[in-house]
Amino acid sequence: MKLTTTTLIPLLASLISTSTAIDLTVGNVDSVCDAATDIIKGIMDYYEGDRYGGTVGMFQQPYYWWEAGLVFGGMIDTWKICNNYTYVSTIQNAINHQRGDYNDFNKVQNQSDVEANDDQVFWGFTVMEAAERNFPSYSNNSDDPNYAQLALNVYNSMAPRWDNETCGGGLRWQILKNMSGWNYKSEIANAGVFALGARIARYSNNSELVLSSNRILRWMKESSFITQPDGENYYNVYDGSNIVNDSCPVINGAIWSYNYALMTMGTSYLYSATGNDYWSNELDKFLSGIEHYFINPNSTDILYEYQCSVWGTCNNDQRAFRAIVANSLGNVAQLVPEYKDRVLKIINASAKGAAASCSGGSDGVTCGKDWSTGSWDGLYGLGEQISALEIIQNTVITDLELPCTDKSCGVEFDNSTYVTIPIPTTTIYLTNTNTVTETSYVTVSSDSNIFYTA
Ligand SMILES: *[C@@H]1O[C@H](CO)[C@@H](O)[C@H](O)[C@H]1NC(C)=O
Ligand SMILES: *[C@@H]1O[C@H](CO)[C@@H](O)[C@H](O)[C@H]1NC(C)=O
Ligand SMILES: *[C@@H]1O[C@H](CO)[C@@H](O)[C@H](O)[C@H]1NC(C)=O
Ligand SMILES: *[C@@H]1O[C@H](CO)[C@@H](O)[C@H](O)[C@H]1NC(C)=O
Ligand SMILES: *[C@@H]1O[C@H](CO)[C@@H](O)[C@H](O)[C@H]1NC(C)=O
Ligand SMILES: *[C@@H]1O[C@H](CO)[C@@H](O)[C@H](O)[C@H]1NC(C)=O
Ligand SMILES: *[C@@H]1O[C@H](CO)[C@@H](O)[C@H](O)[C@H]1NC(C)=O
Ligand SMILES: *[C@@H]1O[C@H](CO)[C@@H](O)[C@H](O)[C@H]1NC(C)=O
Ligand SMILES: *[C@@H]1O[C@H](CO)[C@@H](O)[C@H](O)[C@H]1NC(C)=O
Ligand SMILES: *[C@@H]1O[C@H](CO)[C@@H](O)[C@H](O)[C@H]1NC(C)=O
Repeated sequence: MKLTTTTLIPLLASLISTSTAIDLTVGNVDSVCDAATDIIKGIMDYYEGDRYGGTVGMFQQPYYWWEAGLVFGGMIDTWKICNNYTYVSTIQNAINHQRGDYNDFNKVQNQSDVEANDDQVFWGFTVMEAAERNFPSYSNNSDDPNYAQLALNVYNSMAPRWDNETCGGGLRWQILKNMSGWNYKSEIANAGVFALGARIARYSNNSELVLSSNRILRWMKESSFITQPDGENYYNVYDGSNIVNDSCPVINGAIWSYNYALMTMGTSYLYSATGNDYWSNELDKFLSGIEHYFINPNSTDILYEYQCSVWGTCNNDQRAFRAIVANSLGNVAQLVPEYKDRVLKIINASAKGAAASCSGGSDGVTCGKDWSTGSWDGLYGLGEQISALEIIQNTVITDLELPCTDKSCGVEFDNSTYVTIPIPTTTIYLTNTNTVTETSYVTVSSDSNIFYTA
């Protein structure tokens, strides 16, 4: 993702029509799939892969490569929920064309000069979704890796970027040294490895990967990327920190929903993988954070983007973040029974609001940004479409069987080659957002010193 800020562009009045809206009965599969048909039609209006001269797997500008991965991941769930094969080959072709020469979505043609860790990991989630939903293979060539192997390749490409030479650990935002975010340790890059590792841990029942994800979480806390305010049950999940003199002294306190979403995703998978209350307790604090920050105060239980929505400053990337939140709340609903009603309350209310917002444009079913007004707010784009699709289809997510594992899916999965985040062997630089001038040090040499080994 990039640092551009694009303000919201209102749709021209001439395009406004008074025709139909999306009529949704939440929790009803037929109604959800009817809505999905309308919304995906809107999504495909932006798809360039089936246009003359267009690139397979890409949406038109200004939508970046990562968002394409996000959209196809959502459409994999639509396929499963609706048992509708219309877009199966579109999704297969997109994955096949974008998986890169090394089958790890790294150094992908046309992206290699700009690709960052967060971009890569969103395609990792796409293929993990395909693995967990048993999506039809993109290739009949037995030399081509299966979806789970592609996801593991993404993980194995990213985890070695853990950089314990600065800030006591963490991935940098960028992959390339010459990009401006190289000097930034970003929460999203680390939350991405955390969550993808968690999903692979559950998929392959790999306890080493559970520990590895836990080390990432502990590092986030020790370096104040994640803090718990005194007397509160929620976490603040901050955006990251510039590297200054090899440490991360000043946290960028921006609160973005996609960071919460990936931590929610990861902790719910780790709970499912281990059955350990440690993980449901962690999840509780991320969920509490979503409830604290991302519910529109003008509504009951309707999601919005806290950091930019009110000011109308959400850029194209940020306008898709609620899709990631919706997806992760669906993970909770499926994997953590004790929090199912808690997240479905948000999903249900937001889905109703989103459906009501899908009443704009010349087709009369173009989705808007504000889900709290009961109508279309004049804003539109790929982010609005995929966010509406995800929140609406997640009202029926618990009808699906659980995400499968290599065993339950009957898939061959080589679990012998995976990279783990190293146990810290050195001094960790502790910093604190509220007292940036105070730093302290702790020397650790094993998991048990600083990391829970749960
Ligand atoms: C969400 O909506 C479904 C379908 O109407 C309903 O069965 C379920 O009880 C709702 N859940 C919550 C927590 O509101
Ligand atoms: C399957 O999806 C396509 C495209 O979204 C839609 O036109 C079609 O009506 C759907 N089929 C069924 C049986 O719902
Ligand atoms: C890179 O761009 C070229 C030219 O537009 C296109 O033909 C090719 O398919 C693209 N490669 C990928 C992996 O998208
Ligand atoms: C950054 O480095 C990569 C790989 O070394 C190179 O391909 C790319 O052109 C460079 N980008 C800029 C903006 O200098
Ligand atoms: C693989 O082969 C099956 C059976 O011939 C066919 O239905 C399917 O479309 C093929 N898949 C791909 C991705 O080519
Ligand atoms: C970084 O981790 C590696 C692998 O565990 C270890 O050998 C090295 O000493 C660590 N370096 C620092 C500065 O902590
Ligand atoms: C997962 O691994 C543990 C040992 O680490 C084992 O006890 C358990 O039976 C395994 N679960 C499955 C579903 O294979
Ligand atoms: C890898 O899979 C094999 C066979 O299922 C299992 O015995 C082994 O414990 C697994 N290894 C790890 C590290 O999960
Ligand atoms: C970084 O280190 C240099 C050299 O030791 C020092 O002059 C500078 O003030 C330090 N910067 C910060 C922000 O601490
Ligand atoms: C809540 O509604 C008021 C009045 O319409 C509006 O000014 C404000 O921006 C809304 N807040 C949000 C978060 O939508």
